Amino acid sequence: MCGIVAYVGPNQAYPILIKGLYRLEYRGYDSAGIAILDKDIKLYKTKGKVADLDNFVKDKDVTGTIGIAHTRWATHGEPNNANAHPHFSNSKKLAIIHNGIIENYSTLREELITRGYIFCSNTDTEVLVHLIEDIQIHENVNLMEAVQLALNQVIGAYAIVIISKDDPDLLIAARKGSPLVIGIGENETFVASDATPIVEYTRNVVYLDDEEIAIIRRNQELKIKTIKNIDKTPYIHKLEINLSALEKGGFDHFMLKEIYEQPRSIGDCMRGRLNVEKGIVSLGGILDYIEKIKNANRIIIIACGTSWHAGLVGEYLFEELARIPVEVEYASEFRYRNPVIYEDDVVIAISQSGETADTLAAIELAKSKGATIIGICNVVGSSIPRATHAGTYTHAGPEIGVASTKAFTAQVTILTLMALMLADKKGSISKSRFHQIINELEKIPSKVEETLKVNDEIIRIAKIFKDSRNFLYLGRGLNFPVALEGALKLKEISYIHAEGYPAAEMKHGPIALIDEKMPVVVIATNQGVYEKIISNIEEVKARKGIIIAIVTEGDKSVRNIADYVIEVPDTDELLAPLLATIPLQLLSYHIAVMRGCSIDQPRNLAKSVTVE
Ligand code: M6R
Repeated sequence: MCGIVAYVGPNQAYPILIKGLYRLEYRGYDSAGIAILDKDIKLYKTKGKVADLDNFVKDKDVTGTIGIAHTRWATHGEPNNANAHPHFSNSKKLAIIHNGIIENYSTLREELITRGYIFCSNTDTEVLVHLIEDIQIHENVNLMEAVQLALNQVIGAYAIVIISKDDPDLLIAARKGSPLVIGIGENETFVASDATPIVEYTRNVVYLDDEEIAIIRRNQELKIKTIKNIDKTPYIHKLEINLSALEKGGFDHFMLKEIYEQPRSIGDCMRGRLNVEKGIVSLGGILDYIEKIKNANRIIIIACGTSWHAGLVGEYLFEELARIPVEVEYASEFRYRNPVIYEDDVVIAISQSGETADTLAAIELAKSKGATIIGICNVVGSSIPRATHAGTYTHAGPEIGVASTKAFTAQVTILTLMALMLADKKGSISKSRFHQIINELEKIPSKVEETLKVNDEIIRIAKIFKDSRNFLYLGRGLNFPVALEGALKLKEISYIHAEGYPAAEMKHGPIALIDEKMPVVVIATNQGVYEKIISNIEEVKARKGIIIAIVTEGDKSVRNIADYVIEVPDTDELLAPLLATIPLQLLSYHIAVMRGCSIDQPRNLAKSVTVE
């Protein structure tokens, strides 16, 4: 959460910084600020979105070729002008931006107050800038050394960039637990929370590692040291992001664009990994570990939010196809409950961003207990792929809408490929069943394309239910995680309360909620428990609930009892989540649009949850 961007070079910093903030706005959008160093540090910040900041500085002096900028997702201190970043030191000679949480900030703050420092905000970040200034003054060290000493006193997570009035050619950046990418251009350097603000200027980037400090001096080569003063050699990676992936491309919102991208993103995810003619499924990134996974005592899937829902689909697939026991855990719970982990356990961490703090901490915990860790991530070069033993990228392309859509279907696709690959290696699946599933899997991109044609029907249904106060989503088996995902999508972008539930569990409580005002979305595609779900629909109808059913094309039984029916193409039961999810994404999207909600940047949320 929070996006940070910095620049030093021959060009004016403001246009680069503000554009960078727009690109990073998905990370947080309750306030924004900018500091540009010319003779003095000119610092402007305001509550609201990046556009508010852009407006605010219209008549201000933003001249300068070095600067830092920040878009905030509040942790400590409410969103207001004072708590927005950058933060000045008391002398106004230093300005800092920060993404993360300084956990021991209150102790540090008390100490600094007793030493006479005046705080202008309620943030944890402000302690850092005062501490660095205090060290500079009392230890008589340069800025980099002061940052080093300060960071050795800090507990928590940080990605920071600092500028100093006394050294107008220098940016100091450092990270621990929060991401930071450095772009190396022609006589210019960029720093950002991810590569999106950098890619149009340079494709050469360095990913900073935990406890590393970058010393970025105008017209000089990048230097990296650790907070313990060990020199590191910067390793330059080549970015492969397509610039058009960062634009809306004619769609009203990134979310809609990303929903419509799914035929392509699922196809990209399978490319080079699925060969139907030869009957091969192979994920290159995990090949070295395949024996280990195949012989695992059990698989533990750790993730948060939508990625956790994908993990639940994975549980069904691994158990059904590869006959390996699976547990799916919220990373945030797993990390704090002293879980029993054995060396022959394999942990699969799923994350779109690759930066989720809880998932990262859960990985470290499992690693410390000897488990093998496999990552499934979307963002190339992010922290989770670097923290795992092996892994595979989903290749869905940048997902900018805060509500995850194409990343989910890509994660489910990878889990399907992984389960098939393991099943084939283990011999836990017959050859004919293996071929039947991979044949169907290859057709999924075109079937998703077909599914997207339900859009007009969904708009009609959305108009009817846009003012509902509650929704229930029901599914069984593989469709239970789809129900959870549908409910989450509706909650996060339309702010309507929605619950996902296993359909048969409804009678153990939630059935009490049902009356003639309650829309119940039932995912009732062809599956083993189809007859059972019809009984569950009858139970809802008997209590006057309104049924919106997602069914397989040609379905008759559900059509006879449901109030609204949305058809998806027929496919293998194991692949149904890849299709059934699409109408639910569209339903939440259109309801949220009709309610006037902020689609790509829903209130209180951020795309990358880099704080616990
Ligand atoms: O980047 P990650 O996949 O680790 O993110 C996990 C969740 O924060 C994320 O899925 C969140 O739930 C989305 N907003 C859901 O749409």
